[in-house]
Amino acid sequence: MSNQIPVNISEQLELPVISAPMFLVSSPQMVVEGCKAGIVGTFPLLNARTGEILEQWMGEINEELEKARKEEPNRKIAPWGVNLIIHRSNKRFESDLELVRKYQPPVVITSLGNPSEVVKVVHEYGGLVFSDVISTKHAKKAATCGVDGLILVCNGAGGHGGTINPVAFIAEVKQFWNGITILAGCLSSGRDVLAAQVLGADFAYMGTRFIATTEAMASEEYKSMLVESDVDDIIYTDAISGVNANFLAPSLQKAGFDLANLQKPDEINVAHADHHENEAKAWKDVWSAGQGVGAVKKVQPISEVVRELKEEYQQAVQLVSNNSSTSKV
Ligand SMILES: Cc1cc2nc3c(=O)[nH]c(=O)nc-3n(C[C@H](O)[C@H](O)[C@H](O)COP(=O)(O)O)c2cc1C
Repeated sequence: MSNQIPVNISEQLELPVISAPMFLVSSPQMVVEGCKAGIVGTFPLLNARTGEILEQWMGEINEELEKARKEEPNRKIAPWGVNLIIHRSNKRFESDLELVRKYQPPVVITSLGNPSEVVKVVHEYGGLVFSDVISTKHAKKAATCGVDGLILVCNGAGGHGGTINPVAFIAEVKQFWNGITILAGCLSSGRDVLAAQVLGADFAYMGTRFIATTEAMASEEYKSMLVESDVDDIIYTDAISGVNANFLAPSLQKAGFDLANLQKPDEINVAHADHHENEAKAWKDVWSAGQGVGAVKKVQPISEVVRELKEEYQQAVQLVSNNSSTSKV
């Protein structure tokens, strides 16, 4: 199994995990603490309400990580990343891209649209661009734009999850793609991280597992609902923004939706784009989570989650090695 992660990044990782960008959830503290725990921490640029706030966040993340690296030069401190929505309705696209050029996050994740312009900017300073895709058609398109990594968003993923089974999706993409491969959707335990690697992924991309962390901007009520929910509570519907996404059914009920009669709205509020007045309103009261929600048992610091993931990963490695050494096949 060949790993495509550049050595300067892999040697700074405790686990090949990216804490996925989450609208209204990922905070700069979550990014810093995730990186300090040894996983790639990311956030959507639009989580900062204004360009000024964003500039402050990016400056602080760089400073805090630099300080941590100076204080503990032998500690594995992972690189950080941001998520940029490439869609004409994202009115901040140009100015946010300028801030990317200035603050140089080592990883830039693009969603929706052609990433070529972003690739040019990010490659100039030596960063990596990963694009999220939900079909092989999208994956092929992104691959021709010079991205370094493809994020395969599969069925059951939090947010605008895809519909393809991960086993099938990664196998197909691997037929034409040799770059960094990132798997997303319901990966919630250390065992899942190993499973993703066995399927051919270089990174596991995890969102839902990190919402109920102390550093996340999600409300306490949202975090408690995650702890109490399991896979049967997840509903995939286009009734909130017009685009299918996975949500916690109890949050829909609480917001007054009739689960038996969900209707697609007339107007589509595409993906967190135009600092997203409509989407923000929708996602503030109706909470997203993926089908991996059952792994969330309590609210805890992100460093503790990473520590648990690492232990589970090591146990899974041990289990596989025991099984293969006792197998007669
Ligand atoms: C609350 C929430 C908000 C999200 N917001 C974004 C976003 O702004 N941009 C994005 O690219 N993906 C977003 N996602 C998707 C995640 O980045 C990631 O693909 C997904 O969470 C992975 O699946 P998992 O939740 O099953 O781990 C969001 C997911 C959740 C749960």
